[in-house]
Amino acid sequence: MNSIRLRSLPHLLLALFLTLAAYGQSLAQTVGSAPAVSKEGVAPDATAGATAATATAPAAGGGDAAAIAAGDALFKGNCAQCHAVNDVVVGPALAGITKRRPMSWIIPWVKNSSKVVASGDEYAVKLFNQYGKQQMPSFQLSDQEITSIVAWVTSQEGKATGPNDNANGTNIAPGDGSKTPGDDAAAGAGSYMNVLLIVLVVVLIVLVVTLVIIANIMKDVLRGRKDLDGRDVEIIEQRFDYSKIYKSTAVRAIVGVVFVLAVLYESVQGAMGVGLQQGYQPTQPIAFSHKLHAGENQINCAYCHTSVYKSKSANIPSANICMNCHSQVKTESPEIKKIYRAIERKQPIQWVRIHNLPDLAYFNHSQHTQVGGIECQTCHGPIQNMEVVYQYSPLTMGWCINCHRETPLNTKGNAYYDNLVKLHDTKNGAVPFTVSSNGGTECSKCHY
Ligand code: HEC
Ligand code: HEC
Ligand code: HEC
Ligand code: HEC
Ligand code: HEC
Ligand code: HEC
Repeated sequence: MNSIRLRSLPHLLLALFLTLAAYGQSLAQTVGSAPAVSKEGVAPDATAGATAATATAPAAGGGDAAAIAAGDALFKGNCAQCHAVNDVVVGPALAGITKRRPMSWIIPWVKNSSKVVASGDEYAVKLFNQYGKQQMPSFQLSDQEITSIVAWVTSQEGKATGPNDNANGTNIAPGDGSKTPGDDAAAGAGSYMNVLLIVLVVVLIVLVVTLVIIANIMKDVLRGRKDLDGRDVEIIEQRFDYSKIYKSTAVRAIVGVVFVLAVLYESVQGAMGVGLQQGYQPTQPIAFSHKLHAGENQINCAYCHTSVYKSKSANIPSANICMNCHSQVKTESPEIKKIYRAIERKQPIQWVRIHNLPDLAYFNHSQHTQVGGIECQTCHGPIQNMEVVYQYSPLTMGWCINCHRETPLNTKGNAYYDNLVKLHDTKNGAVPFTVSSNGGTECSKCHY
């Protein structure tokens, strides 16, 4: 009996280890998901129960929930057309206002900002100039009402970027539109995964240490017994010689080869990726959505990218084109106010460029869209479904050339090609007349 139990000791330990590991994992999962559970409790006006999620907003937890709710309504009624908590709209982002200014400054400011500016208050004058000498209106609000607005603002601070919103859609701070919901959700999930992994690693280390201790205790107990046979004794007295491992040439060779391969792989990947921007998706200054405009509202691409069928490059629309509609549509949206602000300041909207070939290559849109009749989506992907545009194609030389080799030229109804096609067909009629048959793979076509 004893010897059987003893021989299966390693198996026993393994089983124990696996059970504990599984238990540790489920433990870690509950730890990881705890904040997610309590997130459900966040009411829009941040009630006292919402401890976990509002921990980032200092004033919210201890603040008076009723005052915050009142502040929410007052803010939406009076301030939201010019301010957001975490975003500059017409006026500055109000997040952190209590750290910048004392209440004894904020209250007179909201009641009559021009009086504060006129008094020569250094901060006020600087701010006023910074915002293009725009006057904030005076408000007939009581001290208490202003305090409650500030309390609400403080409760919303940092929410647009925290992992705690969007997931449940409770916090619709006016500035939220500038972020893609996906960004936040992904970032949130990422940090949860990290916490989970760390917890897991710690649990595993604790388990290993515990098991080693248990194994040693068991060995000690068994050593005291006399009814053990030879193999059992062998197992108990086994000593593992670690120096053998790193002295062994085989192990050294394997480690060496793996290391060299890893370095090679990384360098090749790195070299292949130089200058490659596929998938590049920068955050744009205004949360402009192609999905909303080109997709749901079916606005033609060329309504905005007016030169795409006529010239080498597709232009990015100026703010005036936006104003054709947005002088009427969604005028209260903080994102749309950014357009107004750009126009007021006579500064273009600073869109971040996504597609960018190196200067050594020549690419002409009209040649492809107008003459070649290629759809935008062939090269740019499902733009009409993109909330935020990303680079869909690799834009490498191989990508251009492959398409030129495979794509038959659209020669129908184009007299320019008639003779060329005839010539091609008499010479090798079996092969289709592709872009490359017409010289589309000659270096000088694409390189100056
Ligand atoms: C018509 C637009 C407009 C409205 C409405 C408005 N503000 Fe302002 N606010 C501004 C501008 C612009 C500034 C920047 C200073 C300036 O140019 O006068 C500003 C500045 C401020 C500042 C100082 C910010 C800082 O960073 O120091 C506070 C605080 C403020 N506003 C609070 C409020 C509150 C509270 C309300 C609602 C009761 C409100 N504002 C409504 C336009 C507005
Ligand atoms: C209402 C105006 C509007 C319409 C309609 C529109 N776009 Fe755009 N497009 C923009 C603006 C503004 C930008 C710059 C901001 C951005 O990248 O989202 C842009 C950017 C792009 C870019 C990335 C440019 C770069 O930086 O490399 C591509 C590609 C593009 N649009 C293709 C299309 C296609 C294809 C369609 C039709 C399916 C279309 N657009 C319809 C306004 C528009
Ligand atoms: C042909 C009309 C038209 C043009 C041009 C246009 N938009 Fe729009 N835009 C709309 C419509 C319609 C909506 C959706 C409004 C709604 O959801 O009720 C919209 C919504 C938006 C929104 C979302 C607003 C929000 O808070 O929900 C943004 C941001 C926006 N547009 C930016 C732009 C920018 C930037 C341009 C110029 C490059 C532009 N739009 C050009 C018609 C247009
Ligand atoms: C044959 C592939 C191809 C097609 C078809 C195509 N594009 Fe492009 N597009 C490109 C490339 C390549 C660039 C980068 C050009 C550069 O950096 O010079 C680009 C860049 C752009 C840009 C950024 C501005 C610029 O010119 O650099 C916009 C906007 C754009 N395309 C819109 C469109 C629209 C709208 C259509 C459809 C009417 C379209 N494209 C069709 C390949 C294509
Ligand atoms: C989706 C397929 C496709 C891709 C991708 C593509 N092209 Fe083209 N390209 C065409 C077609 C089709 C034509 C022929 C248009 C015509 O003249 O009828 C063409 C024509 C050209 C021409 C003129 C060739 C001539 O014989 O005059 C040049 C230059 C060119 N492309 C450059 C590029 C570059 C640079 C890229 C990559 C950045 C590129 N193309 C990517 C399909 C493509
Ligand atoms: C259909 C268009 C096209 C043709 C034809 C073409 N190229 Fe290119 N080539 C490109 C584009 C686009 C790039 C830039 C690719 C990138 O940025 O990854 C490029 C990049 C290059 C580069 C790399 C430059 C660098 O800095 O990485 C070299 C070298 C080059 N081409 C040489 C040639 C030669 C030689 C030929 C003729 C055999 C040729 N190309 C034909 C489009 C073309």
